[in-house]
This record gives sequence, structure tokens and C-alpha cells, in this order.
Amino acid sequence: MKAYYLVKNGAASTAFELQDIQALTPGNDDVIIDTEAFGLNFADVMARLGYYKACPPLPTVIGYDVVGRIIEKGKNVEELNVGQRVVALTRFGGYSHQVRVNQSGVVAVPENADAAELTALATQFVTAYYSSSVAMQLHQGDHVLIQAAAGGVGTALIQLAKRKGCILYGTAGSKEKCDFIKTLGVDFAINYREVDFVEAIKKIRGDKGIDVVFDSIGGDYVKKGIKLLAPGGRIAFFGAAQIAGAGNEKSLFRQLKTLWGFGKYRPTQFFAESQSVIGVNMLKIGDFKPQIIQSCLKDLVKLYEAGEIKPVVGKMFEHNQLAEAHELLQKRQTMGKLTMKW
Ligand SMILES: NC(=O)c1ccc[n+]([C@@H]2O[C@H](COP(=O)([O-])OP(=O)(O)OC[C@H]3O[C@@H](n4cnc5c(N)ncnc54)[C@H](OP(=O)(O)O)[C@@H]3O)[C@@H](O)[C@H]2O)c1
Repeated sequence: MKAYYLVKNGAASTAFELQDIQALTPGNDDVIIDTEAFGLNFADVMARLGYYKACPPLPTVIGYDVVGRIIEKGKNVEELNVGQRVVALTRFGGYSHQVRVNQSGVVAVPENADAAELTALATQFVTAYYSSSVAMQLHQGDHVLIQAAAGGVGTALIQLAKRKGCILYGTAGSKEKCDFIKTLGVDFAINYREVDFVEAIKKIRGDKGIDVVFDSIGGDYVKKGIKLLAPGGRIAFFGAAQIAGAGNEKSLFRQLKTLWGFGKYRPTQFFAESQSVIGVNMLKIGDFKPQIIQSCLKDLVKLYEAGEIKPVVGKMFEHNQLAEAHELLQKRQTMGKLTMKW
């Protein structure tokens, strides 16, 4: 039995080592899962580059989502059974043949469901669902801006917002990505590497503004997003991808630029316009409100089984292509979910 350990920060080609692991035993509220596949998330790139504060000290196994079969369970676990195929949200540890997960992050899934689609339901869809249905509500007719709309969380948000009857503005970093998000239902696709997204939206909306912004780029993108908000508008901020950059060296300059770019705010300005800034950190929700994660994941598995959502799979890789997949994700060359198969 093996796991990919993150052994040093930097280039994907030298960051990971496949090492032997010991069999795990469950705590009272845990299950042990033999995994068939694990998902990648942009946070994994941030962890590899050394930007992710919550990442355990190296060497460590990272990874947030797995699909597999329960092989053992703790004495308090009643809803789940040994032998069941499940999707699970792991708090790190996912790049492994075997994981130990608290039952609150585990939901049974159909035997024949696609493993890559299932991994997308975990971190990325749960983040999108929590942001758009729990932390705030979307309403029919809302004008909604989704940054990095072709990515894992972005394509999940498109589907969830479209179901609510919203008018969608999506940004993406290439023509190919813009063409793709239009096929998913984005009404106005904006290549933000070629045009200023604020100007592009003002051309469409005039001074009417945007009702909801989902931002995962951080820094000045959040500042601009707040400026775009209509009265009653909400912005959910859940990532700072702009810190990463294409190189493998940690950049203090980019960190400070991003931090500075957010701007400064007074609560009264949001009161005056009845606007909200909502921070989303699913690790914290998992630690302090695990029942919310469970209810989001259960809802999503139901929607998936009913055919109401269909995760976009960028690619299912073989596990030994981990470095290649990481590099593509870092270099903005992917769409949808990336998953590794054992
Ligand atoms: N707070 C939470 O709990 C939470 C949970 C899950 C995810 N997230 C965040 O949500 C975001 C999306 O996650 P994901 O896993 O679905 O990744 P993803 O969107 O599939 O990949 C990240 C995308 O960000 C865009 N991007 C813009 N500027 C970038 C830059 N300087 N460097 C790299 N990428 C850049 C790229 O798309 P374009 O080429 O189209 O610009 C890239 O494809 C990430 O920021 C992640 O950290 C947060």
C-alpha cells in the first residue's frame, strides 16, 4: 500500500515521492476507505508551492477528495457500511491507497458512477454549493459573475447558478475556455487576459451592476468585484489563485501585491448599499460545522443521481502522472476536474 508524499515545496517533478504506508485503523466516528481514485484541487498546487498555511509540515500526504470502498468502520458509524462505494472529503491525506475519514465527510454513491465525476462532487461542488446555497442564496434573475469559470469550482458554480435561473457572466483565461463555458450556459464569457472584466461588464450592464460575484482569484479582483456590486449585492471570496504564478519559487512580492490589492473597507459602506462580503473556507466549515459539509455532499449526490448536475471532467490521469497533472493545473491549462486513478 502506498501514498504520494509531498516531500518538498517547489516543482511538481521533484515535490512528490511514492512511499509505503501502514494500514490504518478507524476512530469511533471514522471509516477506512480503500481508494480507487483521488482528485486534485488548486489548493494542492498552493500547498506544493508552500503558500498554504493549513498544510501540515512536510513530509505529508495532501489531497481532499477520494472515491473508494469502505473496508472498516468505527463503532459509532451507523449510516455507512463496510463494502459500500463512497465519495469522501478528506482533510489532507487523499493522495493515498487508504484514507481514514470522519463519517461526516463520507456519502455512499452508485456502483456504476464515474469516479472522476464523483471526486468533483467533493471539494469543488461542495465549495460551490455551500457558497451559493448556504452562505448566500441565489435568486432567479440574479446577474452573477463567476471568476475562473472554466475551472473545477467555476464549472460547478455555472451549473448550480443556472439551475436557479441566474444570468451568468464568466471569466476565463483563453478563447477555448470562453467557448467552453458558453456551452455550459454562461451568457457572457469574458477572456480576462485580453479585456478588463470590469469594462466588459459595464458595457453590458451600464451602471446597473452585478448581484453576485464568486471570486477565487483574490487581491484586486475582489476589490473590483466589490465595486461592481449592485445595491443588495453579495460577493463570495474563496481563493487567491493569483498568488501562485507559473514559476515554482515562492514570491513574497506576489503575496504582498495580492494582500494589498484587496483594499480597505468600512462596515458602513456595506450597510449603506445593503451589500455582503462572504468569506468561504471549507476547511473551517469541516472543522467546526461538519454536519453542513455532510448535508451539502448528500444534497449533491442526490442531484447527481437525478441527473440534475454533471461534473465537468478535465481529465482522468494515471496516478504516476501526478507531476504532469499538477503542472497543467498550475499553468492554467486545465478545465473542470482533474482526477488520478490508482
Ligand atoms: N476556500 C475554499 O474552501 C476553497 C475550496 C475549493 C477551492 N477553492 C479555491 O477555488 C479556486 C478554484 O479551485 P479549483 O480547484 O476548482 O481550481 P481551478 O479553477 O480548476 O483552477 C484554477 C484556475 O484559476 C485561474 N487562475 C486565475 N489566475 C491564476 C493564476 N495566477 N494562477 C493560476 N490559476 C489562475 C485559472 O483559470 P483561467 O486560466 O481561466 O484564468 C485556473 O485554471 C482556487 O483558487 C481554490 O484555491 C477554495
